[in-house]
Amino acid sequence: MKKPYEAPNLVRLKTGGMNKFGGKPFYLKRVRKEIGGAKIDDLIEQFGSPLFVYSEAEIIERANKLKSSFSTRYPNVQFGWSYKTNYLSAICAVMHAQGALAEVVSGFEYQKARALGVPAHKIIFNGPFKRIEDLRLAVNEGAMIQIDHLDEVYDLEALAEERGQQISVAIRISMDCGIYPQWSKFGFDLEKGMAEEAVKRIQAGGKLTIRGLHAHIGTYVMEPQAYATQITKMVAFGYRLEQEWGFEIEYYDIGGGFPSSGRLKGVYLPPEVGVPTLDSYAEAICEALLGALQPGHFPKLILETGRAMIDDAGYLITSVTSSKRLPDGRRAYIVDAGVNILYTTYWFRHNLELAQETEGLNEPSVVYGPLCMNLDVLDEACLLPRLERGAKLVLSPVGAYNHTQSMQFIEYRPASVLVTPQGQGELIREREDLSDIQRREVLPDRLKLR
Ligand SMILES: Cc1ncc(COP(=O)(O)O)c(C=O)c1O
Repeated sequence: MKKPYEAPNLVRLKTGGMNKFGGKPFYLKRVRKEIGGAKIDDLIEQFGSPLFVYSEAEIIERANKLKSSFSTRYPNVQFGWSYKTNYLSAICAVMHAQGALAEVVSGFEYQKARALGVPAHKIIFNGPFKRIEDLRLAVNEGAMIQIDHLDEVYDLEALAEERGQQISVAIRISMDCGIYPQWSKFGFDLEKGMAEEAVKRIQAGGKLTIRGLHAHIGTYVMEPQAYATQITKMVAFGYRLEQEWGFEIEYYDIGGGFPSSGRLKGVYLPPEVGVPTLDSYAEAICEALLGALQPGHFPKLILETGRAMIDDAGYLITSVTSSKRLPDGRRAYIVDAGVNILYTTYWFRHNLELAQETEGLNEPSVVYGPLCMNLDVLDEACLLPRLERGAKLVLSPVGAYNHTQSMQFIEYRPASVLVTPQGQGELIREREDLSDIQRREVLPDRLKLR
């Protein structure tokens, strides 16, 4: 048998570049041939490249881990699924099957949850922009409304007037939890007295009943103690609401923000070392919560975990379409997935795995996406062996905020597949085609080519 030709490879050896985790892995190749038991080659043959792949088993494992971490430490815990993290219907359905409420931030997300069969009382309606018609529908159907600002208070009061009855609400507050810059876009600031002003205003209006407090302090928050501070401040304020203004606080919603194993650019420690475990968040939060609550009082603790629930269960398979040598000596690959579908590439350095065994030494390489745009780079400094056209790469974790923020820029969006716990790839979104782009366009008759 004639051996396949392997191109000679001259690699400039650089000294240095060591850090405390070791030197550059010129020999190390990470190979992944399957996701959740489904063979990558089979998935690509069946559904095409690029391809988003989600492992249902990994989602369920993660959901169970999150649930057990919290419910073994506090008796009244409820999860919400943050739709914007990934609102593919099948993903939401898996989350709801795990018992999660829907957490939505727009009329569109609200409609999506309702269309999936989620009853309104299991939908949390958040966000700084709620159209009056969306609010009206959500209120009439009995959704959990979390107020962001005073204009929303006025809108809700008008709706209460319209309905001739009081509306139950929660208010969103923001506070200093030691995470800077502090998010101040959302809700009423606690330390500056704005939350108190809002409560006074709501009480004076007499049309809304506050029954919950909500705060979401950030995303990819690496400090569990920040949540301990958050819940302590929320509960203290909750008791003031009860004692000074006569409201009864049924739930504390602490938002999302736990990190995934995604590797943030510019962060020295790798996530395996730097990211705290889910148990450490649960421990910090539940300990602070139990410490702040009066004995025997267990209001509901709601979590709206997004990223930490889905990110690690999502993969993107992409194929090499061409390669070239750059003037600085690095090898460049053009693959068929770019920043159009991997928005988080701008601040995360995704893991790159080979989907096939590949001979040869690793060399400094750049992985470009397919867009005719210079900033379409998936990895500007990786080590890869010489890859042939058609070779496949697997990027991960990409389950959070990529599909929902993907765009039809230059390329169609690819298909998405859910791998069942039995290892079967099931199509959950078809690859787009021209009809998806043109469907809403109107070409005036006078401009038609004749
Ligand atoms: C109100 C609210 N809840 C939950 C989330 C989910 O956050 P994460 O994905 O960081 O867990 C977000 C996202 O920013 C949010 O705005």
